[in-house]
Parts: sequence; structure tokens; C-alpha cells
Amino acid sequence: MATFTYTSLTLLLHIFTFALSVSARPATFLQDFRITWSDSHIKQIDGGQAIQLILDQSSGCGFASKNQYLFGRVSMKIKLIPGDSAGTVTAFYMNSDTDNVRDELDFEFLGNRTGQPYTVQTNVFAHGKGDREQRINLWFDPAAEFHTYSILWNHDQVVFFVDDVPIRVYKNNEAKGIPYPKLQPMGVYSTLWEADDWATRGGLEKIDWSKAPFYAYYKDFDIEGCPVPGPATCASNPNNWWESPAYKQLDAVQLRNYRWVRMNHLIYDYCTDKSRYPVTPPECLAGI
Ligand SMILES: *[C@@H]1O[C@H](CO)[C@@H](O)[C@H](O)[C@H]1NC(C)=O
Repeated sequence: MATFTYTSLTLLLHIFTFALSVSARPATFLQDFRITWSDSHIKQIDGGQAIQLILDQSSGCGFASKNQYLFGRVSMKIKLIPGDSAGTVTAFYMNSDTDNVRDELDFEFLGNRTGQPYTVQTNVFAHGKGDREQRINLWFDPAAEFHTYSILWNHDQVVFFVDDVPIRVYKNNEAKGIPYPKLQPMGVYSTLWEADDWATRGGLEKIDWSKAPFYAYYKDFDIEGCPVPGPATCASNPNNWWESPAYKQLDAVQLRNYRWVRMNHLIYDYCTDKSRYPVTPPECLAGI
């Protein structure tokens, strides 16, 4: 009896603490997300655990998290449009939805002609200022299988991961006067749309509608963070796992992988684009 009580109490406490501080992998897509653009172009599959996004000549589509979050980690598995995907853009991002002072963390997957590599563009907006694009080519075909794309966001750094490989780091360098997204909660968003005016080879490659409809697949949605509205003390709680020492900077293995990506897969970095930035932006010099 005593054991039973103790166990149930511990369990209850766990559930209680958990529900207060984090949300995690939802049982179904609709538990955490809502469709924001074109219901008819998002199909639930596998009993609602996965979704298919559809782009055709009538529409693209999009979805968003029901909550906003202040710090945490969001990840999902995505399988991109196979074959001729030139002119299509699949995006996965966090956004504070605040016009002038917007914070935003972007993954954008730019399609390509069959056999040509997808480009992954990332961008970071802090306090309304973006224009921090970086682009990489992936080391695998992202349309052949599901891969995990995640954004870690804590008080010390924002890290974009492809599987377990960090492809981009934006450090909190507020001490050096560099803006850092810290005060505004962000929602989690995704869209699939046509952007053949710019996406592929700068807009030279147009979408081939004879290949439509185009399909992308998502599953294993996982948001762990402080929901807003929610307990006000959550975001500043140092006991949140994403704030723990292991997540304050890249570890040795991550650092090696990150350097490997920069060396072998980086195709564009605003930091070194002298025509756009004759003076190197300060965050580029601050190190990681
Ligand atoms: C598409 O393929 C071309 C040729 O390999 C490459 O230059 C380009 O970066 C690729 N990606 C996009 C989005 O244009």
C-alpha cells in the first residue's frame, strides 16, 4: 500500500512537472498543430501521426503549432519532394509573429532539377533584423528517406541540426551588443509553396507543373519547450534540459561535424559576402 501510494505520487508529480514545463512528442499531428493554409492540401496519414503536404497549381499549404514557445528544441522528420522539385520551397521555421521586432529561425529547402542537389538555406532574425542567410548542400538525398531537422534554442545559442550534425550556430553575443532572440515566444511553422521567381539557381529554373502534384512528408513531431501562455517561471528555469551545460555550446564531436559541414558543404555565407556586407557583421566575428 505504502509503495503504491509512493509510486503513484511520484508518477503524479512527474506528470504534473512535465505538463507544466514541457510538451513533447504528440500522439498525433493535430494535438500540437493546426492547418493554417489550404486544408485540402494537407493529408493526415498513419492515423494522424504523419502528414503529406501537397503542392499543385491551385495551392501550396502550411501548418503551425497551436502554442508558442520560449526556448526549447523543436524537431521533425521530413522527406522532401523527390525528382524534379525545382522552384518549390519547403520551409520549417520558428517565428515570433511580431512585425517590427520579429524573431525568426528558418530552415528553407530549395528544390532542384532531378539529380541536382537540394539547397538548405538558414536564416536568423533577431529583433526585426534578418538578412543572415547561409546555404549548404546536403550530403544525402533528402527526398529518398526521412531525416531529422531540429532547432535548439536556449539562453546561450541557437543551433540548426540536420540529423545530429550542427549546420549553423548563432551564439548569444549580447555582451558584444549583438541582438539575440530571448524575450519573445515563437510558434513553429511549416509551409510548402512555389517560389520559382528565386528559389532554384536564383529563379532561372522554373517549376515544371507537368510533374505536379508535389508531395513532402512529415512525421515524428517533437516540441520540447516552455509553452506560452504557460507558467511564467518556465523559460528561466535552469533545470530545463535544453539549458543544461551540455547544450550551452557544441561538444567536441559536434564541433568537428560542424567544421566538416562548413568546409565541405557550405555554398553561401552572408558573413563573407562582401558585396552585401563590405563591413563584416559583428556576429560573424564573435566566434562560436
Ligand atoms: C541546384 O543545382 C545547381 C547545379 O548543381 C546548383 O548550382 C544549385 O546550387 C542547386 N540548388 C539550387 C537551389 O539552385
